Amino acid sequence: MAISQTIGSPISGYEDRMTRIAVLADIHGNLPAFEAVLNDLAGVAVDEIILAGDLVGRGPQGSAVVRRARELGLQSVRGNHEDYLLSFRRREVPVEWLEAEEWSCSRWMAAELDQNDIEFIDSFPFTTSPSTAPTVKIFHGSPSSYNEGLGPWTEEATVRKYLVESHGEVLVCGHTHRPAQWDFEEGLAVNVGSVGLPFNADTRAQYAILSQQQSGWSVEPRFVSYDRELVFAAYESSGFLEHGGATAVLLQHEVATARPFLVPFLKWAEITQRLPVMASLEPFLAYFDPSLSMADQYKRLDKLRAEL
Ligand SMILES: [Fe+2]
Ligand SMILES: [Fe+2]
Repeated sequence: MAISQTIGSPISGYEDRMTRIAVLADIHGNLPAFEAVLNDLAGVAVDEIILAGDLVGRGPQGSAVVRRARELGLQSVRGNHEDYLLSFRRREVPVEWLEAEEWSCSRWMAAELDQNDIEFIDSFPFTTSPSTAPTVKIFHGSPSSYNEGLGPWTEEATVRKYLVESHGEVLVCGHTHRPAQWDFEEGLAVNVGSVGLPFNADTRAQYAILSQQQSGWSVEPRFVSYDRELVFAAYESSGFLEHGGATAVLLQHEVATARPFLVPFLKWAEITQRLPVMASLEPFLAYFDPSLSMADQYKRLDKLRAEL
């Protein structure tokens, strides 16, 4: 159900715009980042706020984020982390995932959701459009899969194809945790980045406002500072750090640096034939250089694989 809402009053320069849509993706159980973005939106009137999935997973406050979204009547598309935690709740995962240390964080995050949260996230569709802007097509990853992230590495022809196939003027997505934009004659494609867990070395909460004017659509990426100490406090007080194993520690590093730690850890563990558990954390952190790009991380990991 799409709920149209206006938060705040128009600020100077916005009055002539026809429609404004805020799209927020990848909140990942980070309530302080979500609240900071909602506060930011209080100063900029928008017609609708739409969530682009991954409200939950990879963070300690999935239930609180889902509850807040539900209270505000926000709609979301389905992210891979909604489905991932639903699978854990339903025990539709390999049996060892229900017991082994390396999945302790996922089990904790799935257990933290209450029945209302579960029903709400299970209602998310694969794609949606704002009721006030049906030519805006929103997906979590891409029109092909919620696991496919669109970024600078994506072939231009692929983005153009998705624009044509989605029959819209604007294609909006998240999932990569890195904002990006493409402006083609077929339309505008936007990756809005991540509210709760950005990977572009900018620790601020990130989202985008799309504005429709006479000349067409434009995108305003937004970057919102917030108190990350509140997140780290939630990591402690919720039991997430205590019960989430190596994953929770690595996610805390991700919030602190806005760089990916978890996926490189899993790759490194596979290459070095270690279990991705707490005992492997120290040697991984001694090896890992978070300042490298993901492409360079993979090159370095390939070199390590060749050496072993
Ligand atoms: Fe995500
Ligand atoms: Fe995702």
